Amino acid sequence: MHASAPGKIILCGEHAVVYGRPAIAIPLNDVRARVSIIPGAPGSGVCFDAPDLGRRWLITSAPHDPLSELTLAILRQFGVQRMPDIEIAITSDIPIASGMGSGAAIATAIVRALASAYGRNLSAAEVSALVYESEQRFHGTPSGIDNTVIAYEQVIWFQRRSEPPHQIEPIAIAEPFTLLIGDTGVRSATRLPVGEVRRRWERDPSRYEMLFDAVADVVYQARRALAEGDRAALGPLLDRNQALLEEIGVSSPELERLITAARSAGAGGAKLSGGGWGGVMIALVEPETAQQVRQALQAAGATRVLETIVQAAA
Ligand code: PMV
Repeated sequence: MHASAPGKIILCGEHAVVYGRPAIAIPLNDVRARVSIIPGAPGSGVCFDAPDLGRRWLITSAPHDPLSELTLAILRQFGVQRMPDIEIAITSDIPIASGMGSGAAIATAIVRALASAYGRNLSAAEVSALVYESEQRFHGTPSGIDNTVIAYEQVIWFQRRSEPPHQIEPIAIAEPFTLLIGDTGVRSATRLPVGEVRRRWERDPSRYEMLFDAVADVVYQARRALAEGDRAALGPLLDRNQALLEEIGVSSPELERLITAARSAGAGGAKLSGGGWGGVMIALVEPETAQQVRQALQAAGATRVLETIVQAAA
């Protein structure tokens, strides 16, 4: 039984999305986590094999590992009484702790693989809900945007409500556009900047509420620019979002080096994407500028540069 799930990036609105503002997220269909379920020896129980994470473990020896807990929750939901004898093999080309949704993609691929192994047809909303529970164990207060964009595999508008259902809408994109994704190579676990933003918000709520409102304003304008195919408007909005993320306190020198290099080489706009303090940045490019921006990112220290063409779902 095989299943996979894409990585993702956030176009705009990260962090503010945790506080009920909207954000736009994009699935990365070419960068995926994959899970295969194969029969194990009788009595072996559930064994996870994740060479890309450098790990192999038995569910019984690490029952509180987030992926073990996720698997136990799924088996419970499916009404499975007896622990099956299976190996869950996990591979992924999504770099971990880089703002590309590696954790949520692996969890989503596990949910999908177990669903097909047990002949269940889960909707995107059901997959997303199971993964959200698992993300909560990792992160504390995830907004839910990662599991949503990965389960739906569409460019989405996401706004968290105090109670589900959250607002999830496919986004209209009049003209495809191209983003380069530059990896700083600095690994940063999302919960750290998310926790720091929470402490700062608790100390000075009015300042942070104002910053989050300013981010929301950018996200509304970005949605309009995408619907109108107005790439000239989108670039400066990404720059404005970056300036706000710097004020919120989640940028870093490595991210800013790549962002500055991309802009100098002709990108229409650039910003960090995801939790920040490391991980990836994105740059809006045109066919004529893509190559020089890619080279500038590499020269400025990007450990990897990916390209994605963003378009509305077929
Ligand atoms: O998982 P990351 O690093 O892409 O970050 C997710 C985006 C945040 O807004 C920072 C956190 C969240 O839960 O929405």
